[in-house]
Amino acid sequence: MASVNHIAKLLRPSTIAVIGAAREPNKIGHQVLRNILEAGFPEDKVYPINPKANEVLGLKCYSSVKEIPGDVDLAVVAVPAKVVPQVLRDCAEKGVKAVAIITSGFKEVGNVEAELELVRIANKGGFRILGPNIVGICDTVKGINASFCQGLPLPGDVAFITQSGALAIALVGWTRLKNIGLSDLVSIGNKADIDETDLIEFFGSDPHTKVIIAYLEGISNGRRFMEVAKKVSVKKPIIILKAGKAERTISAIKSHTGSLAGSDIAYDAAFKQSGVLRAKTFLDLFDWGIALSKLPLPSGDNVVIITNGGGAGVVATDFSEEYNLKLMDVPPDLAEKFRKYMPPFGSVFNPIDLTGMATEDWYKGAILEALKDDRVHSVIVLYCHTAVTDPRKIGEAVLQAKKEANVNKPIVVSLIGGTECAEECSRLIENGVPCYESPEKAVSALGALYSYKRGIERIKSVRIPKVSIREDVARRIISKALEEGRTALTPRESAELAKAYGIPVLEKPLARSLEEAIDIAEKIGYPIALEVESPQIIHKTEVGGIVLNVNSKEELKAEYVRMLENVKSKLPEAKIEGVIVRKMAERGKEVLIGMSRDPIFGPLIAFGSGGIMVELIKDVTFRVAPLSLEDVEEMVRETKAYNLLKGFRGEPESDIDVVKDVILRVSKMAEDIEEIKELDINPFFVYEKGKGGLAIDIKVILKGQN
Ligand code: COA
Repeated sequence: MASVNHIAKLLRPSTIAVIGAAREPNKIGHQVLRNILEAGFPEDKVYPINPKANEVLGLKCYSSVKEIPGDVDLAVVAVPAKVVPQVLRDCAEKGVKAVAIITSGFKEVGNVEAELELVRIANKGGFRILGPNIVGICDTVKGINASFCQGLPLPGDVAFITQSGALAIALVGWTRLKNIGLSDLVSIGNKADIDETDLIEFFGSDPHTKVIIAYLEGISNGRRFMEVAKKVSVKKPIIILKAGKAERTISAIKSHTGSLAGSDIAYDAAFKQSGVLRAKTFLDLFDWGIALSKLPLPSGDNVVIITNGGGAGVVATDFSEEYNLKLMDVPPDLAEKFRKYMPPFGSVFNPIDLTGMATEDWYKGAILEALKDDRVHSVIVLYCHTAVTDPRKIGEAVLQAKKEANVNKPIVVSLIGGTECAEECSRLIENGVPCYESPEKAVSALGALYSYKRGIERIKSVRIPKVSIREDVARRIISKALEEGRTALTPRESAELAKAYGIPVLEKPLARSLEEAIDIAEKIGYPIALEVESPQIIHKTEVGGIVLNVNSKEELKAEYVRMLENVKSKLPEAKIEGVIVRKMAERGKEVLIGMSRDPIFGPLIAFGSGGIMVELIKDVTFRVAPLSLEDVEEMVRETKAYNLLKGFRGEPESDIDVVKDVILRVSKMAEDIEEIKELDINPFFVYEKGKGGLAIDIKVILKGQN
């Protein structure tokens, strides 16, 4: 694990060696050295390394880091791939604290072993590696441009982590254009050693960073990421654009950085559970980043929109719904106050439409009323550039109103128009007011602020409930199956396992002969169901191994014989241990509760509509285990199955509590028993409120050769 101290040496070093400080100006090593000097890093703390040169850019050259007289915090490496291992060994000997490797030609082109060798050298040498395959590091806190970006970004309090180096370079110019300040820009490349989580951890406790934004193509260690992200996000927002949703993009990623893209569903769940905001686009990253770095958290849900254009207001209203913003119903007394700042044909229904006649004074007055009123918690100001007003004056009205109101309330602005609007937007950002060129951007930025607030409130209130179970029984069942070389449990074993975890199941008594079957049936009473029990048969229906609604002894005799003949003809090699004779369960509402393992984040718990609906409407939601009560609550509520369980079209409410309880128990099982690869309870019958439910069909697949 990278300690925060190591990362501090990497991003905020006091001395830097540039290994591969080439003589020719167009070579990368040369550019890195020049960038470091041009950004103002003290010349006597920079050491160019190049065995072929005596001096580069006026500085004395060393032929190896080992020759540098003082300590070296950071070495930036820009020599060809084949030279890198030796250079790293020299760094180890020298006691360099951190190394940033710009060089390409490792894992991203299949040279996995060469990359592992770099990590081995670093581990042995006690230093950390950033990269390889990066553009470098830009840090505005100490003014370090140890990269081949064109220049440093503007100083600011947003830290930007990017897995794409080229984008990092391109975005430096763009952030300047938009007046967006960054504390650091770190390109992480192949992430051989230092990864996004290490950096999130560092920026989480960095006083110069208020918001962390990241472009990622994959996360290295999902569990650790979630653990760190949960801790950091309650202190400061983390916004991530995770690329690689589409299959085509996923193959592009593999060839690009060789990173393993986890399933997108798991990313969604993990981000949500860790309080991480998931950006949809690059621009979201920065739009939201600005808002979250500059605005206080709102104290309530009421949002007021003030506009001079009906259209802008309508668009903002639509987007407010999309981003879960609540437009306040303006109380009559406040409406009266707004009326002072509009013509008679203006509107005091939120959005407050000051009309195209609106002057800067009207804007200022209306904004001031909104800011001063305790019932208003956030304000969105929209302005369409008209001939009667100057965007600069509108911007000034916002700043003045904010100053006079002197309240800690979020306010976002959109100035819609040409160059003057863009310039004024820039000025507003500089003065601490997030400003955007379109209403939807302003709404989405405020929406992100609210999502962040809800996310951290959720994390702070999370309760992981205790679930009583019989792990010993469960382990015995699993061990027996594994010892027998099986990767699936039989229906009876699955039911026993579920029972050990307190999941209500149908009793599944086993008959080893027709006589035994008749005896059991007489005891439990008709109608009954028959199920074949065989370690080789998981999908019973496909081999005719299940018969429902057997109503009498005669039917039982006939069906028993027919079922076994059927199974034997379809799977002659299957070892049949007997026939389960079980009650026909009373039908309930059918839901699915399941578990699978994501390669990045681990156990993923699923809940949704069950039975044949699974395939038909794909109404399933996921979360990463272990689940909290809040996770389960959310899971249940966000499915269509919830409407059914609540009592659709006058039907009585179902026992939602038993559903939540079973989801929690499945989560616990997934956490406890690593050997379970997949589990499906489908259907789980849910009965009326207070009457519980029953797991009808349970499939358990174990890890193994399959
Ligand atoms: N220690 C220090 N310097 C050394 C050295 C050593 N052991 N061995 C060689 N050098 C010097 C060379 O002499 C050369 O300097 P010179 O031109 O003055 O002679 C300098 O290091 C660079 O070596 P060179 O062979 O000219 O390589 P290069 O500059 O053409 O390419 C890289 C080096 C790292 C830039 C290149 O291999 C690379 O990986 N490019 C891609 C970088 C990239 O895109 N990264 C990802 C961004 S997303």
